[in-house]
Amino acid sequence: MSNIVIVGAQWGDEGKGKIIDILAEKADYIVRFQGGNNAGHTVVIDGKEFIFHLLPSGILHKGKICVIGNGVVIDPKSLLDEIAFVRSKGIKIEGNLFISDEAHIIFPYHQRMDSLREREKRGKIGTTKRGIGPCYADKVSRSGIRVQELFDKDSFRDKLKINLKEKNKIFKCLYGNKGFSFDKIYNEYCGYGRQIKKYAANTTLLLNRALKNKKSILFEGAQGTLLDIDHGTYPYVTSSNATAGGACTGTGVGPNKIDKVIGVVKAYTTRVGEGPFPTEFGPELMQVIRNKGKEYGATTGRPRRCGWFDAVIARYSVMLNGIDEIVVTKLDVLDDLEKIKICVGYKYKGKIYKDFPTDMSLLKYSQPVYEECDGWLADTSVIETFSGLPDNAKKYINKLERLLLARVSMISIGSERKQLINRRHG
Ligand code: GDP
Ligand code: IMO
Ligand code: MG
Repeated sequence: MSNIVIVGAQWGDEGKGKIIDILAEKADYIVRFQGGNNAGHTVVIDGKEFIFHLLPSGILHKGKICVIGNGVVIDPKSLLDEIAFVRSKGIKIEGNLFISDEAHIIFPYHQRMDSLREREKRGKIGTTKRGIGPCYADKVSRSGIRVQELFDKDSFRDKLKINLKEKNKIFKCLYGNKGFSFDKIYNEYCGYGRQIKKYAANTTLLLNRALKNKKSILFEGAQGTLLDIDHGTYPYVTSSNATAGGACTGTGVGPNKIDKVIGVVKAYTTRVGEGPFPTEFGPELMQVIRNKGKEYGATTGRPRRCGWFDAVIARYSVMLNGIDEIVVTKLDVLDDLEKIKICVGYKYKGKIYKDFPTDMSLLKYSQPVYEECDGWLADTSVIETFSGLPDNAKKYINKLERLLLARVSMISIGSERKQLINRRHG
């Protein structure tokens, strides 16, 4: 298999986990390159559900090398819990999992800062409160602590002392919060360091050597394009580059090593947290789709906001990521609808916009321009081939291809591995 980047092409939760699990069968390495345990990637095998937050979703395949790249932020407790869970299911981790020693570590002060900021009414993002934003902020301000530093007790002590002095002042002055004791965090994190040391590696070298040896790599994006820190619906975004370029910076693999980018979209749209969402349903349809699609966050359990497919944002994602192929998931969720809408533009102050705007107030106050399709009113969850789909479902997919200017290479019609219509060659 070639080297493929998988990205979410909407606001996350597109079903990337399922697609990674399927493509992992043919890959040698599966690599997470950004985000942290804000991600929740679901894989369902014979009715058993696995939700991965930090471990690559290919971990269930025997003999695959799974890597957490330098661009990921790691909450060591969450990682160790996940490793213990996967191991309890009889899956071998030792020798199959490598963690970049350059990845940044999430500390309790990051999580608390995330929560305290979210308490403010103004500026609430609706984060997962996992400390992701504050950890990336420390990385960029060059005060972050990386995996390798947990192994050098003296340097770790010094860095943590400096950081805590600053953080505790902020907690006290801005929030009237008493902050953290040095000893507790220091001892806890030295313990985590001892436990994760065996997985730590120079993963940049590991991956580049693998490429030299003609091994194939599957890059597992987390979140989604519209949550990208640079290109998403800022400030209602996450704090990393969830777009395809992040695969290079987040692993140390050069862009000329990437053969293909696959974008995953739901057959409709969802988002969790605050921020503009032009095609969001009214309350009635919201409930229908949320129930049928089980649209509750895999990480926080929050109800997801649901809406019609937005071809403007999806086409923007195709352009931004250089998407070669599209995977449409959850087509089955639309099975019972008589009419299905697709947003093809935004109307704002009498003008129609067909391209994604950089001005977020336009996105917030515009009206979606819809094209309506006839529903298919049939159960697609058991269908195995494209030709076996009802005519109106085929028309819907063909219309998406025309609007997005990209080929739909797979269609998912249920959460199980086997519920997939595969039109990929090779
Ligand atoms: P990810 O974050 O992109 O990996 O997506 P999530 O795992 O957060 O959310 C996708 C949800 O949809 C999970 O519960 C999956 O089991 C489920 N799912 C994936 N593909 C399909 C599909 O084609 N149909 C249905 N009904 N559910 C799906
Ligand atoms: P996967 O990988 C959907 C959203 C949060 C919030 C915003 C910022 O499962 O698709 P953060 O905690 O990252 O600072 O929150 O981003 N968000 C996600 N939404 N899927 C995800 O991951 C998400 N990860 C973060 O809800 O709106
Ligand atoms: Mg998810």
